[in-house]
Amino acid sequence: MSRSPNYRDRFPKTATEPVRSEAIAGALPKAQNLPQKHHLGLYPERISGSSFTAKRAVNKQTFMWRILPSAAQSSWTQVPDHPLNQNFHTDLSFLPDQLSWKPFKIETDCNFIDGLRLIGGAGDATVKNGVAYYSFSCGVDMDEQTAFYSADGDWLIVPQIGALDIQTELGMLRVRPREICVVPRGIRFRVTLPSGRTRGYVIETFSGHFDVPELGIIGSLGLANLRDFEIPSAAFTDTDAVTTLLVKMAGKVSHASLKGSAFNAVAWHGTYYPFKYDLGKFMTMGSTLYDHQDPSIYTVLTCPSDKPDHPAVDFIYIGPRWLVMEDTLHVPYFHRNTMSEFAAVISGGFDTSPMPEELIGMCMLHNGMSTHGMSAPVIEHSMNKEIKPERIPDDHVAVLVESCYPIGLTEWARKLGEPDVGGDEENDFGGYKRVFDASLALKGRMS
Ligand SMILES: [Fe+2]
Repeated sequence: MSRSPNYRDRFPKTATEPVRSEAIAGALPKAQNLPQKHHLGLYPERISGSSFTAKRAVNKQTFMWRILPSAAQSSWTQVPDHPLNQNFHTDLSFLPDQLSWKPFKIETDCNFIDGLRLIGGAGDATVKNGVAYYSFSCGVDMDEQTAFYSADGDWLIVPQIGALDIQTELGMLRVRPREICVVPRGIRFRVTLPSGRTRGYVIETFSGHFDVPELGIIGSLGLANLRDFEIPSAAFTDTDAVTTLLVKMAGKVSHASLKGSAFNAVAWHGTYYPFKYDLGKFMTMGSTLYDHQDPSIYTVLTCPSDKPDHPAVDFIYIGPRWLVMEDTLHVPYFHRNTMSEFAAVISGGFDTSPMPEELIGMCMLHNGMSTHGMSAPVIEHSMNKEIKPERIPDDHVAVLVESCYPIGLTEWARKLGEPDVGGDEENDFGGYKRVFDASLALKGRMS
């Protein structure tokens, strides 16, 4: 086995800019994609992440030159009991409950794929419409001669504990907590664990692809700046050993055998590739005088659904920043939203609220139109405290996934979920105090 000597992260490319990379100098054909016979004996192969005729800004196509073509494989066999198998039409419960989950147990005996657990989702991968949210946890590497891809959608991977080395067809990515990466639909990958056990979340979108949001009147800089996205360099494995290839297609896992490595692309160029991003580089913007802007101002990546102005996913970073608004309730206000909101705490706490160590890694779901907001003691304190500039600490990192779909829960997730709002009549529905006093209006008029 040999690996490219130029293994390194690359800067700075965009999520749409054409990229070229070669692990052996000169491996990229000059001036054309399909010379009759490649001078190094490589096979040309293309992966299309969009229709050929998609608009240029969203056209995603990558050419690879491989030691063997991906077609050098056996037929597929379904894996009937694979933990990733899922049936969204029968297995999900759509509930209005506001739920939260303590950090999930780490499956130290599992690899990345075996340790995935479906929390919930919506839609149907066969019509490219919907999402799936997973937790992952693992303690062992995927076998060297193993690779996986999802035919159902892009995977946005968000580690919370431990680093992931993600070997892809287009090169290597090391992704640490407070970083994220996207592996687009169909790209084959394998995960190893350079720092041991890991835990985190995966957001899969059946429609479109993740990309940075338009900036509009913000201008050309701000939020996730394009120069900070990192894209792998070509890196190949040269072996005759047979690879076990796993695919999830329409929620069912199948396996096949592949001659040689899945990671045998010596050179590639195109617009369809995995990438990573360090959330610490996010250029946060916010309200500087009064009130809150919408949390969409913290959007890192967005993925369209099939409905205009209804993103399948807006992936939002709730991170460190100053709160300087005057005469303003600094904590999040009460809210009902046609978009479902799934949030996870990566470190420190959620927004202004610190969290005990045992809850770091928790997640919560506020489904479409379900009320959410701060607890009674937090609201009371926030309404009465002296307002002054407030710094959300550097280690307070959380992520929020807004989706146009209501999220149905698996039985596994439903059983582990705990109510996230005040409670019943016995505890006064959360203890919110009535402070309304109409006579204050009269006093105000007479003074
Ligand atoms: Fe909300």
